[in-house]
Amino acid sequence: MQDMPHCLPDSVRIVEVGARDGLQNEKKLISTEAKVDLISGLVDAGVGHIESGSFVSPKWVPQMADSADVFKQLPTSTNAVYAALTPNLRGLEAALACGVSEVAVFGAASESFSQKNINCSISDSLKRFEPVMALAQQENLRVRGYVSCVMGCPYEGDIETQNVAGVATTLLDMGCYEISLGDTVGVGTPLKAQALIETLVKHISVNKLAAHFHDTYGQALANIFAVLQMGVSVVDSSIAGLGGCPYAKGASGNVATEDVVYMLQGLGIRSSVDLDSLIALSNAFCQQNGLVQRSKVSLANL
Ligand code: HMG
Ligand code: MG
Repeated sequence: MQDMPHCLPDSVRIVEVGARDGLQNEKKLISTEAKVDLISGLVDAGVGHIESGSFVSPKWVPQMADSADVFKQLPTSTNAVYAALTPNLRGLEAALACGVSEVAVFGAASESFSQKNINCSISDSLKRFEPVMALAQQENLRVRGYVSCVMGCPYEGDIETQNVAGVATTLLDMGCYEISLGDTVGVGTPLKAQALIETLVKHISVNKLAAHFHDTYGQALANIFAVLQMGVSVVDSSIAGLGGCPYAKGASGNVATEDVVYMLQGLGIRSSVDLDSLIALSNAFCQQNGLVQRSKVSLANL
């Protein structure tokens, strides 16, 4: 049998977004203590990059209202990066006050989603990010950039890849070190994901791209495998497959971290994460907090 040609990365950096993207969509308020326990458990399981909260309007996203308290209680005896979403200067100032190690601005490739999510147009959002970038730079804080709706929008349907490229290159030019490509509603499929990367790498180095794929239609793992083959080596995922975006009706959780780590192991790709510890944490966190676990790997191990 002929060997299949492939080009996969040797290692993948997991960005765990469960404590933010995962929980933001949960109606039931999760206690600060439970969030801190979750993030501490993730650190113990070897996750090195953890999005731990967001500094947004508590009226818009009540679940994130205690983010400052969460950040203040996180273990400090670790090199883990604790990141936060900051949509504007006010959010960044609040994040700085509690010692976050990294922030993210979040834009979109769809005008309608931008309005629904952050209450402004794409171009106004980029203007709002300017003072955020300036202050972050002054404080030596790294800024990640998100682009939502990269493979489709819940309000507009198909999105031109050129729009994604435009917002992504602007965010990089403004100083973001990496662009996380959000398939916010999980409508992407593998060839579409590869076509997206193919277009983007004409403008952006593949080392600056991350996959942030929601799993609404069960396509996220397949889409991740597709973009790993194009050289993407940063994957956002959510423990237990929790979550979704409150401003994208029908969007279910991100791809589950356990499922991603299981797939990476099978592909011989290194990550820093210990799968057994992650599964134990996922099972315990969901049971203790009455949350629905969507990860296949964890359920198989119950
Ligand atoms: P706005 O209405 O345009 O701004 O909101 P505003 O300045 O007029 O403020 C409105 C209210 O928010 C005021 O309070 C402000 O004080 C308050 P009020 O007078 O009504 O009591 N406010 C804030 N409060 C706390 N922290 C702040 C802050 N800024 C203003 N930083 C804003 C603009 C962005 C704040 C609002 O639209 C908002 O909070 N939206 C929520 C956005 C969000 O968190 N969405 C979910 C995360 S994004 C996502 O999930 C996608 C992603 O995962 C990638 C993917 O999957 O595609 C990243
Ligand atoms: Mg998301």
